[in-house]
Amino acid sequence: MSEFRPSSKVVDLSTAAAPLLGAAKYKAVIIAWLKSTSKKLTIFFMNPDTWKRPKVWIIGLIFLRLAYVFMNEYGLNPFKKSLVGDHVFLTGAGGGIGRLMALRFGKLGCKLSLSDIDEPAINQTKDYLLERGVPAENICCFGADMSSVESIKEGGRIAREAFGDVTILVNNAGIVSGKQTLQLTESMINRTFAVNTISHIHTIKEFLPGMKSQKRGHIVTIASVSGLAGLPGITDYCGSKFGAVAIDECVRTELKKTGDWAYIKTTCICPYFISTGMFEGVGNIFPLYMLSPDEVADRILSGVRQEENFIVIPWRGNMVFLANLFPAVIKDRISNFMGADAVMDTFQGKGDTRMPGLDLSE
Ligand SMILES: NC(=O)c1ccc[n+]([C@@H]2O[C@H](COP(=O)([O-])OP(=O)(O)OC[C@H]3O[C@@H](n4cnc5c(N)ncnc54)[C@H](O)[C@@H]3O)[C@@H](O)[C@H]2O)c1
Repeated sequence: MSEFRPSSKVVDLSTAAAPLLGAAKYKAVIIAWLKSTSKKLTIFFMNPDTWKRPKVWIIGLIFLRLAYVFMNEYGLNPFKKSLVGDHVFLTGAGGGIGRLMALRFGKLGCKLSLSDIDEPAINQTKDYLLERGVPAENICCFGADMSSVESIKEGGRIAREAFGDVTILVNNAGIVSGKQTLQLTESMINRTFAVNTISHIHTIKEFLPGMKSQKRGHIVTIASVSGLAGLPGITDYCGSKFGAVAIDECVRTELKKTGDWAYIKTTCICPYFISTGMFEGVGNIFPLYMLSPDEVADRILSGVRQEENFIVIPWRGNMVFLANLFPAVIKDRISNFMGADAVMDTFQGKGDTRMPGLDLSE
């Protein structure tokens, strides 16, 4: 077969790169390499025979997907949505990543309805935001207990009275008991599921109608890597987070079915351990490390603005899906080898205050 020669001019990467290289020591070598590579690439891509090979399409699609993942991961997606004027209802905003997300939403020009069961803490969040330049007229803070439907409804009423319909719901409030299955009390189990899972359905029911009538909305679920893989010593929490992931998926598919997906998006966030104190003392699962609350808050905000559906933080946490391809007997050995079986042995969490609303002091 004779060599293909493109009729139009060969794209020359070296022309664009030359000014960037300045006085680089190997400038001539780099320019020569770029020239020959440009020629080879142009010939390759402009040859009609190239596009008749399925392998090229498969590799091309994989490359595009990886480029998309990379752009999203580093917040480089050029199609980020503006959140100016959005009304955010954020639960568990009294500390941890809730407070940091509130600051980021506030800085982007959102109106903030912030709630927490801990009223002094939510008032501290207000001061924290004011000190950092979020306008007072954009902040509404109040106490609300996510384990109570009445409290959720009352929170909805306060938020609507302050800023009208909610357009971004962030289900962030969460608790962990840190007990082995046989040590769990009925009230621990019920409260964990009420706050981490059941409240999500009630808040969605509270705010989705407003999002539909506004034709604008975003539902953000703060789940966990514990919602993707079970660990010993964390049964109630894992179960509740698996539930949260499932709720997100059901609502997303429902929105698609009803056609509301065109303007109401969902984002499910599954972070590994974060140094907020909630999982104080836990071990590590190789190759993951304790995340900083700021990096998690940044990633959540970029995920919302890039309208991503599902985010594992850090990205390599997606390895849990790979592990699920193995039979349980092999999967369990791999995860134990990585340290997963001992991770909760050293758990301290927030001590007796780790489940607000429950007295754990006896
Ligand atoms: N910290 C981690 O390692 C980690 C890892 C993955 C996912 N998460 C999830 O991230 C979210 C935020 O966690 P965090 O690390 O910022 O912890 P945090 O303890 O600092 O924040 C949780 C907030 O929820 C509030 N809260 C507790 N019970 C409540 C209730 N009944 N009603 C309303 N508010 C209530 C608390 O007062 C607290 O302010 C949680 O959903 C948690 O499960 C945390």
